[in-house]
Amino acid sequence: MLSVQNLNQYYGGSHILRDLSFEVPMGQVTTLLGRNGVGKTTLMKCLMGLIPAKNGTMHFGERDITHAAPHVRASMGIAYVPQGREIFSLLTVEENLQMGLATQPRGARIPDLVFELFPVLKNMLGRRGGDLSGGQQQQLAIGRALAMNPTILILDEPTEGIQPSIIKDIGYAIRVVAQRRQLAASAATDERAEVKEAIRKVAETGSVAILLVEQYYDFARDLADHYLLMERGEIIMRGLGCNMDSDGVREALAV
Ligand SMILES: Nc1ncnc2c1ncn2[C@@H]1O[C@H](COP(=O)(O)OP(=O)(O)OP(=O)(O)O)[C@@H](O)[C@H]1O
Ligand SMILES: [Mg+2]
Repeated sequence: MLSVQNLNQYYGGSHILRDLSFEVPMGQVTTLLGRNGVGKTTLMKCLMGLIPAKNGTMHFGERDITHAAPHVRASMGIAYVPQGREIFSLLTVEENLQMGLATQPRGARIPDLVFELFPVLKNMLGRRGGDLSGGQQQQLAIGRALAMNPTILILDEPTEGIQPSIIKDIGYAIRVVAQRRQLAASAATDERAEVKEAIRKVAETGSVAILLVEQYYDFARDLADHYLLMERGEIIMRGLGCNMDSDGVREALAV
């Protein structure tokens, strides 16, 4: 669905992204792993058009988006949850979610799915974004992206600095959104019923491709259908999520 060919990017004289080629398939989770400073966020910014690619091409379906502006990509259904969340602190939770509707037809409502995945947001609609905890802000940022009814959801380190219970909720949401039908073994029965309902709703809106940047290995492995491992601007390993352990990705990250 999203396909990148021979992408290169520089900051001044330093070659940050080196000839990257990969695909992000529909209905699946692709995780991009790599240590601090290898170029993950730079790559996401290139995908969103926030920094122009020096050379290479990017396609969204059949369409060449290499030179498309960020708002054009957003209106095509590419939603981006940046590293560090970047919600609007002075706006309320509800107003933040409504920002996600900017790309939707007039009169569009915040999808119920957002509140099904993150019920805490429903209880805090009138609260200012800046008064939420870090984890709640992350849920809000993901909720805002989901309000765009995206075809591709790009998440840059959503677990960074967040407590385990919220990490679990976020992992769960990613799985639901990607329409993964096998649910976490630990999910309680009533929780499963809720998720099935959520999956059904997502299915009605069409399927979604997810690109997840992550440094938290276990989280990435549990969600990945495919993985990409980046080192100094290059993809040095790639494969199926279920092979991450046997491929030695954890060890490669620790080196
Ligand atoms: N605007 C900029 N100008 C110059 N260099 C930059 C700029 N932004 C990032 N860099 C450098 O480019 C390299 C890649 O940065 P990037 O933010 O893409 O890494 P990352 O993999 O996302 O790291 P992290 O895991 O810490 O978020 C780093 O060496 C960084 O210092
Ligand atoms: Mg980063």
